[in-house]
Amino acid sequence: MMTGENRVMKHQDLRKFQSSSFQIKSSCAIRMLTAKLQLADAELSLKLGRNVLVHTSGRIKTVESILAKCRKKGYEPTYENAMEKINDIIGVRAVCSFEDDVYRMAEILYTHKDLKIIKKKDYIKEPKSSGYRSLHLIVELPIYFQRETQWVRAEIQLRTPAMDFWAGVDHQLRYKKGKKEAILIGEELKQYSQAVAELDQKMVELRKRIDAI
Ligand code: GTP
Ligand code: MG
Repeated sequence: MMTGENRVMKHQDLRKFQSSSFQIKSSCAIRMLTAKLQLADAELSLKLGRNVLVHTSGRIKTVESILAKCRKKGYEPTYENAMEKINDIIGVRAVCSFEDDVYRMAEILYTHKDLKIIKKKDYIKEPKSSGYRSLHLIVELPIYFQRETQWVRAEIQLRTPAMDFWAGVDHQLRYKKGKKEAILIGEELKQYSQAVAELDQKMVELRKRIDAI
C-alpha cells in the first residue's frame, strides 16, 4: 500500500541527488561509457571497414522521474532505495547501424575489464509486450572521486535506427496510454514493431549481399 509520505521525497534525499558530487560522478559516468562505446566502435570499424555507431546520447534521470519510478515499484523514495533499486538513474543509448552490430558492440563491452555487466535484457530476441525492442545492459563502472571509488550503476540501451524510431513514437504515445483511442493506436504500433523487426532483418541481408560483391 502506498502511503502519503511516499509521494514526496524528503529534503535530505532530494539534496543528495542535487549535490555537485552526485552530478559530477553521474555526468562523468556518462562520458566514460560514451568513450567505451566509441572505443568499441573504433575496434569494429577497423575490423569491418565501416562505421557501426550512428550516435550516442546520455541522460541523468530527473528527481521527478526517480520519484515516479519509486512510486510505481512501491519503494519508499529515499536516496539509498533509488540507488539500490533503480538501474537507469544513469542512462546511455547507442544507436548502431545494423541489428547484428548491436550484439557486436555488446560483445566488446563484455571484454572491458573495468566494466561489470550485471544483467543483459534482450528485448530484441524477446520484445516487450508493447512491441519495444532493444538490447539493454545493466552495468557498473568504477568512478574514482575524492579518494574514493564508487561503482556507479547505469543502463546502456543498444538499438538500431529503426528500433529507435519505433521507441520514439511509442514514447510519445506513453503519456496517453490508458485512453481508449490510445489503446487502439498501441495495438497498431505493436504490429509496426514486427514490421520494424522484419526491416532490420532485411537490412542485414542487404548489407551482406553488398559485402559479397
Ligand atoms: P521501467 O520502469 O519501464 O524502466 O522498468 P524496468 O526497470 O523493469 O526496465 P525495463 O527494461 O522494462 O525498461 C527500461 C527502459 O527501457 C525504460 O526506462 C525505457 O527507456 C525503455 N523501455 C522499456 N519498455 C519500453 C516501451 O515499451 N517503450 C519504450 N518507448 N521504451 C521502453
Ligand atoms: Mg520499462
